[in-house]
Amino acid sequence: MLRISDGDIAQGYCPPAPRPPEQRLRLFALLATLKRNPLECWSAEFFREPIAKVKLPFADAFLVHDPVAIKRVLVDNAGNYRKDPIQRRILATGLADGLLSVEGARWEAQRRMLAPLFARRTVTSFTAAMLAAADRLAERWRRLEPNATVDIAAEMTLITLNVLALTIFSDGIAGDYDEFREAMNAYFAVIGRIGVLDLLGAPQFVPRPGQRRLRRTMGYFEGVIDQLIATRWRRLASLPAGEGPSDLLTLLLRALDPSTGQSMSLPEVRSNILTFLSAGHETTANTLAWSIFLLSQASDWRARVREEAARELTGPVEGMADRLVVTRAVVEEALRLYPPIAALSRMAKCADTLGGVEAKPGALIVIAPYVLHRHRLLWDRPDAFDPSRFLPQNRSAVARFAYLPFGVGPRICIGASFALQEATIVLAALTHHFDIALMPDAKVWPLQKITLRPAHGLPMRVTSRDCNEQAA
Ligand code: HEM
Repeated sequence: MLRISDGDIAQGYCPPAPRPPEQRLRLFALLATLKRNPLECWSAEFFREPIAKVKLPFADAFLVHDPVAIKRVLVDNAGNYRKDPIQRRILATGLADGLLSVEGARWEAQRRMLAPLFARRTVTSFTAAMLAAADRLAERWRRLEPNATVDIAAEMTLITLNVLALTIFSDGIAGDYDEFREAMNAYFAVIGRIGVLDLLGAPQFVPRPGQRRLRRTMGYFEGVIDQLIATRWRRLASLPAGEGPSDLLTLLLRALDPSTGQSMSLPEVRSNILTFLSAGHETTANTLAWSIFLLSQASDWRARVREEAARELTGPVEGMADRLVVTRAVVEEALRLYPPIAALSRMAKCADTLGGVEAKPGALIVIAPYVLHRHRLLWDRPDAFDPSRFLPQNRSAVARFAYLPFGVGPRICIGASFALQEATIVLAALTHHFDIALMPDAKVWPLQKITLRPAHGLPMRVTSRDCNEQAA
């Protein structure tokens, strides 16, 4: 596969990405590539055209990268589109009763109940937990041999799980934390495989490989989570109203539907915890891993982040993430070049017209942030790394419907500010304390496997800067 930077492109630094083939892939090659790495399916035409139609064996697919048509699908006429069956089938196991999967009135009720958990004030109150997770990782890195090499992708997976553990279960996870983490990874390994059966639209009763393993993993999770919920219920019941650990679990158990006064059922609480862990874990880990990689390739931006971090990390915790504007711009640019959710899909319930093209009922609509964020009609130097696009003075030039790492409309990511705050704080802290350099023989390549991750991890050398800082 050719890389973008293999070409003669005078754009500035263009990080690794597949060079889109000139011709569309034929069906057999398309299915094989979708299975290997869906990112490599996008041909040059999709990065130039606002809307393209593709005939699939089970439906027509519309690849929509026209901001006006995107607004229609995800906002103005969102009621006409539901999450498509492939996406639902992949997500259904274990997450079926959670916000990511439910639809209609049930989704509306859950979204209302969960909104306060991710409100600005709540997310800001998690700053200390995010800094604590970064400190814990920094402590471990300082104990490594000099010039040790670590896989930054795996390390970021650890830190994001840690942040979720600290913000959901602030009083700890019952049982063995490593066992919990391994079960989580096994779960991702199974749901991360988009099978040919799914792509061909085979019905749910056709057994998929890995389902039995997934059920075993789920059984383990449900046991641990049920125990955590039961313990917390007992604790909250023994305390005066309004007291108790201030974390996402307490907020979830106390959440009431404003219109009915009802709280969530146990399967809904359990499914939403699993949803937060699944939706918030790999996505944020990949954002951080790509941000660290991009900074390792751009000494000018690394210096700017360091200067900002040295100033702001010693200041008040309140509002810290808002003051880290350069770091945040790097995170947002990483999300543009490597959006963790590389494609969103919907299925039309009734006919609709998108950019003058008729989509029949049952049509599959694909909006790929990966394509949108590098679209020739929407971005200047689309493949180049340039965080200045997201600095406060330039931010308003980024069109709302041209940049969708968190989606948009009613089903926009509920955890967007949580993720942005976490990635900004952790990136600033790690860049401040360490030199993180890519190993010369590292092969860096984006792979879409549920999330957009580095295919071979990110082997990087980590060296503490603390002595240099003290000497300075
Ligand atoms: C950089 C990190 C993240 C990215 C890129 C991301 C991306 C997304 C996207 C694109 C969607 C919309 C999917 C669609 O419209 O089909 C979404 C939904 C969602 N995300 Fe995130 N997410 C991130 C972090 C988080 C975190 C930290 C949490 C929670 C702790 C979370 C929880 C959710 C939930 C519950 C939904 C479903 C919302 C609904 O349907 O109402 N996400 N996310």
